[in-house]
Amino acid sequence: MAERIAEEKINQIRQAVDIVEVISDYVQLKKQGRNYFGLCPFHGENTPSFSVSPDKQIFHCFGCGAGGNVFSFLIELEGISFQEAAVKLAAKANIELDLDMSTGPKEKKVPEDIQAMLQAHELLRKFYHHLLVNTNEGQPALEYLMDRGFTRESIDKFQIGYSLNSWDYVFKFLSKREFSPEWMEKAGLIIKREKDGTYFDRFRNRIMFPIFDQNGKTIAFSGRTLGAEQPKYLNSPETPIFNKSKILYNYHLAKPNIKKLQNAVLFEGFADVIAADRAGIENGIATMGTALTEEHIAILKRTAESITICYDSDHAGIEAAFRAGSLLTESGMTVKVAVMPDGMDPDEYIKSLGSERFRKEVIGASLTWMAFKFLYFRRGKNLQNEGDRLAYIEEIIREISKLSKAVERDHYLRQLAGEFSLSLDALREQQKQIYFAEKRKEKGKKTSSSPALILQTNELKPRYYTAERRLIAHMLKNRDTVYRVQELLQGETFNEDEHQAILTYLLSFYEDHSEADSSAFLTYIQDDHLRRIVANIEMMPINDELSSQELNDYIKQVLNYQKLLRIKEKEVELKEAERQQDYKQAALIGNEINQLRKSL
Ligand code: CTP
Ligand code: MN
Repeated sequence: MAERIAEEKINQIRQAVDIVEVISDYVQLKKQGRNYFGLCPFHGENTPSFSVSPDKQIFHCFGCGAGGNVFSFLIELEGISFQEAAVKLAAKANIELDLDMSTGPKEKKVPEDIQAMLQAHELLRKFYHHLLVNTNEGQPALEYLMDRGFTRESIDKFQIGYSLNSWDYVFKFLSKREFSPEWMEKAGLIIKREKDGTYFDRFRNRIMFPIFDQNGKTIAFSGRTLGAEQPKYLNSPETPIFNKSKILYNYHLAKPNIKKLQNAVLFEGFADVIAADRAGIENGIATMGTALTEEHIAILKRTAESITICYDSDHAGIEAAFRAGSLLTESGMTVKVAVMPDGMDPDEYIKSLGSERFRKEVIGASLTWMAFKFLYFRRGKNLQNEGDRLAYIEEIIREISKLSKAVERDHYLRQLAGEFSLSLDALREQQKQIYFAEKRKEKGKKTSSSPALILQTNELKPRYYTAERRLIAHMLKNRDTVYRVQELLQGETFNEDEHQAILTYLLSFYEDHSEADSSAFLTYIQDDHLRRIVANIEMMPINDELSSQELNDYIKQVLNYQKLLRIKEKEVELKEAERQQDYKQAALIGNEINQLRKSL
């Protein structure tokens, strides 16, 4: 276990970093009033219910309830420990942590086998690259690449390499450096022969493309043949360090550009990414030969507002673009589609028609998602044929129906009306019908709770519930209020166990903190669940000052609830006494109930 970081240091870090700045690295935030809003990184959503308060230095999601301070944000999002989060933030704020965690102990936290796998990849990346650019063995591969239009610059930038035409060069190379064969097999670099348990190299006589993770660590390879042998590309298998559904080729280099442009260009293959980079498109990424996953989308959503899909213009590419675009728009991102002449892929286009035309006529001329769908639904249809034509028009109206902006719907309905010489009114009418039919269908199955619904359920809570939360909100802001509340409660507790737990935390917090400090309090609370509740309460709008009248009202609601409960209990007892015809007892209980009622 790493050393503890002194409380003082933690405070220093907390004061030096700005939560808005830290969260902005992961979430697009927009300022609205005093707070910032964005799409919650902890759950999928299309309307922002994630808010960050710069005043209080905390965040909270009204949708999923996540909440906390800058430490808990990193801990939850990156799945790291408190210590690791502190190290990260300290580095950001240029604060020295005396316990040299940045190199020594932190590295040790990575399990030994994972570390060995990473080291082996690092070593091989350098070795493969060296073979390609400096040796005779690599010459044919280098010529092949040059022939395809790769430049020396991009070969270096993407660290492209070459694996020797040998069955065991890598096996020996790694063994000599004392890498365990079991681990290297697990890392996908060598393969075990069934019959005698000996090993051979996975990649032989191939152009080697290293695959990097978000931090630029080599975690896998993809090897392309120089000729027509199959498979054309051979990838590392899924390993403890390589998860295809999470990796985007070139993301580590493209990220700053993606952020700056708020746009990423999504390609089908990494040959396209590299060619586009050469053509000046430096925000390109690609999946690793798999379809786009929700995990990929989650990564992209943190960095960009829009995605330009630039897949091959063949049948498979267009279908894949439609699927990826649908997923991306559903996740709330803006999608554009760059199209090329029939059958071409970006790499071929750049090679034959040049960089400038690629930038202007392909990327620069990308279609809006809706315009792409106009083209997409047209494929395979003969619009001269009435049946095909009507089917097409209906498909398009259905898509138009999904658009949330009236101006957009109007724009595309007009376009459709113009193209087929139809009455705009008739199209509008049909679009409305489709819209309401869809809505009726939706109604039955709606379960997800929008922020509005969550607010309503909070309002349905008993009055004491809100009173307790308001009291906590004030106590978080003002130390004295805690003692006033404690006194007025006269030994009673809050009705909600969680609220009582928070009150207990507050009492002990203020024992050694003379001032209110929301963010420090969040660090102080050990319990995740309670921390979320506190973050939620922090976001409640309350008056700056708590008047005695307001305070007494709240206390009354808290205490009344307990009295109401007691009255209910007594009423049950009363009934029981009456049933047993114990009238004396019944009269006694009746009296108590009256007393309680009066005190309300
Ligand atoms: N791919 C793969 N395995 C294959 C073929 C393709 O993993 N046998 C993946 C690779 O990630 C490749 C992407 O699918 O980058 C796109 O494949 P394709 O369009 O066939 O390759 P290109 O990018 O056109 O590559 P090249 O120009 O070298 O033929
Ligand atoms: Mn190609």
